Amino acid sequence: MDTGKLVKKLEEAGQSHLLQFWDDLSPEEQAEMISDLESMDFNEINGFFKNAMEVSSHSKQESVDSRMEPVPREVLGSVTRDRELLKGWEKEGLLHISQSKVAVLLLAGGQGTRLGVSYPKGMYDVGLPSHKTLFQIQAERILKLEQLAAQQRTCCIPWYIMTSGRTMESTKEFFSQHNYFGLSKENVIFFQQGMLPAMDYNGKIILESKGKLAMAPDGNGGLYRALGNQKIVEDMEQRGIAYLHVYCVDNILVKVADPTFIGFCVQKGADCGAKVVEKTNPTEAVGVVCKVDGRYQVVEYSEITLATAEKRSADGRLMFNAGNVANHFFTLTFLKDVVNIYEPQLQHHVAQKKIPFVNTQGQLIKPDKPNGIKMEKFVFDIFQFAKKFVVYEVLREDEFSPLKNADSQDGKDNPTTARHALMSLHHRWVLNAGGHFVDENGTRVPAIPRNGPAGSVTPDVNQNLKDGTDLPIKCEISPLVSYGGEGLEKLVQDRELRPNLIIDLRGVHELVKNGI
Ligand code: UTP
Repeated sequence: MDTGKLVKKLEEAGQSHLLQFWDDLSPEEQAEMISDLESMDFNEINGFFKNAMEVSSHSKQESVDSRMEPVPREVLGSVTRDRELLKGWEKEGLLHISQSKVAVLLLAGGQGTRLGVSYPKGMYDVGLPSHKTLFQIQAERILKLEQLAAQQRTCCIPWYIMTSGRTMESTKEFFSQHNYFGLSKENVIFFQQGMLPAMDYNGKIILESKGKLAMAPDGNGGLYRALGNQKIVEDMEQRGIAYLHVYCVDNILVKVADPTFIGFCVQKGADCGAKVVEKTNPTEAVGVVCKVDGRYQVVEYSEITLATAEKRSADGRLMFNAGNVANHFFTLTFLKDVVNIYEPQLQHHVAQKKIPFVNTQGQLIKPDKPNGIKMEKFVFDIFQFAKKFVVYEVLREDEFSPLKNADSQDGKDNPTTARHALMSLHHRWVLNAGGHFVDENGTRVPAIPRNGPAGSVTPDVNQNLKDGTDLPIKCEISPLVSYGGEGLEKLVQDRELRPNLIIDLRGVHELVKNGI
């Protein structure tokens, strides 16, 4: 395209300001900018902006509270309320895994702004004794599950990893450097989600420098478009995949391809399922899975009144308590329909952000309040299209501890809480397998943490972890040894163990204090 055509294209789209610093750019910068601008469909982008702003102002005016219904018991499976069914679900899930019909799909295209590191979040080391990164922990869980599922023949769980333009190269390089953490290279499939420009409130694309547009990934719901564009669904079909487990990179406790969850969804005949944790505090800022106008969706905390958030059912639990943890099950048939039919119907959500920009004098300004929007689709926006939707409730302390913030921030969902959540889980696994911990004097360490809320029998472990008032025993079990607490008896039963403890393929190691 010559520059004349480009100028016209921008004029027609009302985006001519993008070339205001053209004469200040070097020939290389000009060439780069032309290539960026040529690849963009401005009509589409302007359309996204218009629709997203309309939906956003509409949803601000229209209250959702009166149209919400909680998840009915008949579509709900629960690790605490359906104990007698868990083994059967697990068996079913393992069967499908053993037939290589299950794949996992990792959403790793986020920018991790709150964590504040310049590399992909999956490469983060939260400071475990082993210093494993999130990617390594997840890879090893996949490897272990393949072993558990494989009986007579080997099986494989392909791992689809969605990255963005910003994270693709470093993610691939990291996997290659670490030899795919023991997985086969051909079963780790990277693909890239789309990017969209950040816009000001009038729909003008923001320049982050004189020759560069401010671009951001198009949300974790960008998944569906990317799956179509990059022929990933075809790859899944060719491999004979029937079921997918989709999850976020930042949950250190994630049970990748959880056979019990998969088995539950398959036995229920579901095409789409969501794993949830119980929301117990009405003001917790978590989205809840519920029905609105008869269709399933996630309603964000900010969209409902406190009165609705505080409503309780007859059993005393919050009525809207199905806390979304972005951990989903899809059949491939459903995913194909989403990609081929429903994706264009998904609307972008508007996130108001502080977006650094160059002013008309060409100076870079870092605003201290939101000055524009990023447009994002969400992975859960497709629940509405499910023919049979189910919900699976798990324990937060066993399965959900996301890494969102830096340690320097507000003490929630940070490297410390993630590390403690994992070690606290592994501590409990050792106790369940009949092991005991003793302190340096040989005295048994009590199984129940000291600092529960006054008068409570069950301490609020999470709160203690957040406060740092009750540090867990340093104990880390390699996923290569145990996927979900199984198989530890032979290693720890009736043994008195001293923290700090690592259990890995080489055995049980008590590490020197402060040496890890
Ligand atoms: P978050 O919404 O927590 O965003 O993503 P983030 O990018 O990790 O962190 P912040 O908000 O910038 O601090 C939840 C999950 O969705 C993925 C993330 O990688 C994470 O696994 N995600 C998010 C994508 O895959 N693509 C996106 O465009 C956004």
